[in-house]
Order: sequence, then structure tokens, then C-alpha cells
Amino acid sequence: MISSKVVAEKGQQLLGWVDERFPLSSTYKAHLSEYYAPKNFNFWYFFGSLALLVLVMQIVTGIFLVMHYKPDASLNAAGIPVAFASVEYIMRDVPGGWIIRYMHSTGASMFFIVVYLHMFRGLIYGSYRKPRELIWLFGIAIFLCLMAEAFFGYLLPWGQMSFWGAQVIVNLFSAIPVIGPDLSIFIRGDFVVSDATLNRFFAFHVIAIPLVLLGLVAAHLVALHEVGSNNPDGVEIKKHKDANGIPLDGIPFHPYYTVKDIFGVCVFLIVFAIIVFFAPEGGGYFLEYNNFFPADPLKTPPHIAPVWYFTPFYSILRATTSDFVWALAALVLITGVLAFRTAKCQMVRMASLGVTVVGVAALLLIEAKVWGVVLMGGSVMVFGLLPWLDQSPVKSIRYRGGLYKSILAVWVICFVILGYLGVQPPSPVGNLVSQICSWLYLAFFAFMPWYTRLDKTKPEPERVTWK
Ligand code: HEM
Repeated sequence: MISSKVVAEKGQQLLGWVDERFPLSSTYKAHLSEYYAPKNFNFWYFFGSLALLVLVMQIVTGIFLVMHYKPDASLNAAGIPVAFASVEYIMRDVPGGWIIRYMHSTGASMFFIVVYLHMFRGLIYGSYRKPRELIWLFGIAIFLCLMAEAFFGYLLPWGQMSFWGAQVIVNLFSAIPVIGPDLSIFIRGDFVVSDATLNRFFAFHVIAIPLVLLGLVAAHLVALHEVGSNNPDGVEIKKHKDANGIPLDGIPFHPYYTVKDIFGVCVFLIVFAIIVFFAPEGGGYFLEYNNFFPADPLKTPPHIAPVWYFTPFYSILRATTSDFVWALAALVLITGVLAFRTAKCQMVRMASLGVTVVGVAALLLIEAKVWGVVLMGGSVMVFGLLPWLDQSPVKSIRYRGGLYKSILAVWVICFVILGYLGVQPPSPVGNLVSQICSWLYLAFFAFMPWYTRLDKTKPEPERVTWK
């Protein structure tokens, strides 16, 4: 029998052999056992690792779905589109197919829940601020890819909502002046959503976007490990190190946070399993009822709405009517006047004057429909400006004043209301409420440089607080 000492020796030899050819031990040390993370991580720090888990789960379940799914819009012998029938085949005939499909469809919604919470953590603890601007910008790029991935994937089951949702969203591009109509034909590969559209959306969904997504997630984590994590106090642990250069408020990521994250994974999987087994349709929000009917280009459903995770931005699109453009012009004007009056140098003053005049003129001269599309995209992209809009002397919500806290609370409420209204059919009251919420949503970003300076903050501690 081989003794455990011999096994250990052989293991060491093998590791040495690998280390001479590949930086295995040094990578393990640099990113796990000797990567020092702040010791005061809390509940909000679960969502990064959970996002990684869901990403892997989506890729693995996706691979198994592709083994049986067929991106084909032609009708089979029973008169049902082949793509739709292949999903039904997965659900009914492929062994274990139903659970793989429900894991994938539930995973899509859970991905957005986890990522929204992950982003919210960034907002409350100021994780986007210096020196983490690039982590945040990679995050925004990830979020955009995630939206594209979900949009392309939603067409694949070729149900009524897949078809008409894609039709509505691709048509939005035709609002772009000059190139719009040709651009939307280019995206569809046809004059209407068709087999050509299904094939290209399939290619983007299964390979192009996942590749970009994986690259971006790698860049996100490399940037994170370069500067180190923020924490609920928003103080830099690298400022206070011991004689060996180890942050005094840091603990090794492994085993401390691997264990914490495994706990988070267990709780998450319990919730995930409950949804997959007992409520995979998510009350009609995760899988919409209309999508259980095959796509019919001759029958428009009475109410077309995107899936819940797009609806805050979709509501902003719907809110942008010609009346609302006046409210937007007022927003640009107020921001311009504030920038003009508070600018320290003449050049910035002139620039803000120029941008305001051009902005207001463009708003009033260009059709509201175009602004709707611009605002829908802009309301996502604007997150990328946060590192430069936020002028507060502190990062974390713990040390911010009542002004910032109240404004953030109003913004969160507006975001939720916009999300809710986006799934409802349009109504006069709903439209008015979504216009008010859209204005407040945008004002949160537009006025940030001023209210974050006005806010009465508390002094940040030197070291992290932890009990
Ligand atoms: C596939 C999606 C994503 C994955 C897998 C992912 C993964 C991670 C992981 C593992 C961490 C470290 C653990 C943690 O701090 O929770 C992290 C940190 C961070 N992520 Fe993400 N992330 C994703 C999307 C995003 C998005 C959309 C944003 C923002 C727009 C974002 C912004 C950040 C920031 C600012 C940090 C540093 C937080 C801090 O140190 O306080 N991430 N991410």
C-alpha cells in the first residue's frame, strides 16, 4: 500500500512540474489564498459570485438545449413552426428536457434579479468611484450584453410574444433619422421578422454574445483584483498595511469568502429550485402566457410588452410623447443654468451654454419618437457616467446625508413604478405617472453633481467598522 507521505510527495512533485510550465500556485495565491478582501463584507456582497454562478448555469443548460432546439421558422407537417415544435419536443419528449429548459428560462430572470441587486450594491456603497471606474464600466458593458443576450434568446421559442416583441423592438431602429429604415431591414435580414431573423438571432445568442460576455466578465474580475474590493464603509483597506504589506482590515478570500459565497449559493439554489419546480412561469412574468402560442405573423396580440427586466427602460420609451419633450427641455435648461452658474472657468461656462442651447433646440425640432429611442438607450448608458457625476466626499451610503438618501429612495421607487407600468397596457393615468417617474429618473443623474455636493455627509472612518 502507498503511504500518504508518498502520495503527498508525488503531489508536490507534480505541482512543481506544472508550476515550472504554468503559473498555477502563484495564480491561486494571488487571486484566492493571498488575495485580501475587506473583512466587513455583508449581504450585498453575495451577488457577484451569484452572477458568476448563473452565468455558468445559463451556458451549461444552453449547451444542452442547443442539442435539441432547431432555429427554423418553416411549418412542420402539423402546421406548427419547427422552432416552436422543437421547444415543445424538449419539454415533453427529451428526458430531463423540461428541467433544463425551465432552469434556462428561470435563469434568465434570476440573472437580471441578481445583476440588478449587484448594481444596486455598487450604487449604495459608491463602488463605481475612483479607483473602480473601469470595474464599473466593464459592468455596464456586461449589462448591455446581457440585455442583448436576453433579447436575442427570447425570439428563439418562436411564440407569439417572441415574434411580436422582436417586431416592435427592431422597428424602433427605424425611428433613427436617415439610416433607420434600412438599419431595421439589415437587423432583421428581411422586411419582417422571419426565418432569416431567427437564424441570425440564434447565432448571436449561442455564440457571439456569450463570447463577448465571458471576455467582459474576465476583464471585470481582473480590474477588480487590480484595485481590490470596495466595502460597506467605502474606505480603502490598502491605506493601512502591516509590516508584510498585508492590509490590516483584509482577510484572505479563500477560505473566508469562498465559504461565505458557498452559503449564498446554497440559499440561492433553494429559491431557484422552488421557482423551477413550483412556479416556472413566474406568474406570467418569467414566461409570458402569450408565448405558449406559436408565432403567427397574421395575428397581433392585443398587448405586447417586453419581459419584466426591460420594462423600466421600455416605460421611458413609451413616456416620451411630444408633450413630454417640453419637460425634457426644461430638465436640460435647468441643468444648463446650474452648470453655467457653478462652473469655475469661462470655457466650461461657454461649453455648458452651447450644449444647453443645442440640446433644447434639438429636443424641440426632432420628432418625439426619436427621443423615445434615444432616452431608452440613454437611460441605461447614463449609469456609465456615475463615477464622474457623483461629487460627494464620501462613497458609502452609511456616511451620506439625508438629501442623498431621500433622492436615492425616490429614484428606486420610480424605477420600480416604471418597471410595473411597462408590463401594463397603456392608460392615460399610467402614462402621466410614467412621465413623472421618467423625469425623476433622469433628474437623479442630471442633478447629481450638485445635490451630492450639497448633501451633509458624516466623516468617513479611517478603518473599516466591524463587529
Ligand atoms: C455577468 C454579470 C456579472 C458578474 C458575473 C459579476 C461578477 C462580479 C464579482 C464576482 C465581483 C466580486 C464580488 C462582489 O463584489 O460581489 C464583482 C464586483 C463588482 N461588480 Fe460585477 N459582475 C457582473 C455584472 C456587473 C454589473 C452589470 C455591474 C455594474 C454596472 C457590476 C459592477 C461591479 C462593481 C462596481 C464591483 C466591485 C464592487 C465592490 O468592490 O464593492 N458588475 N462583480
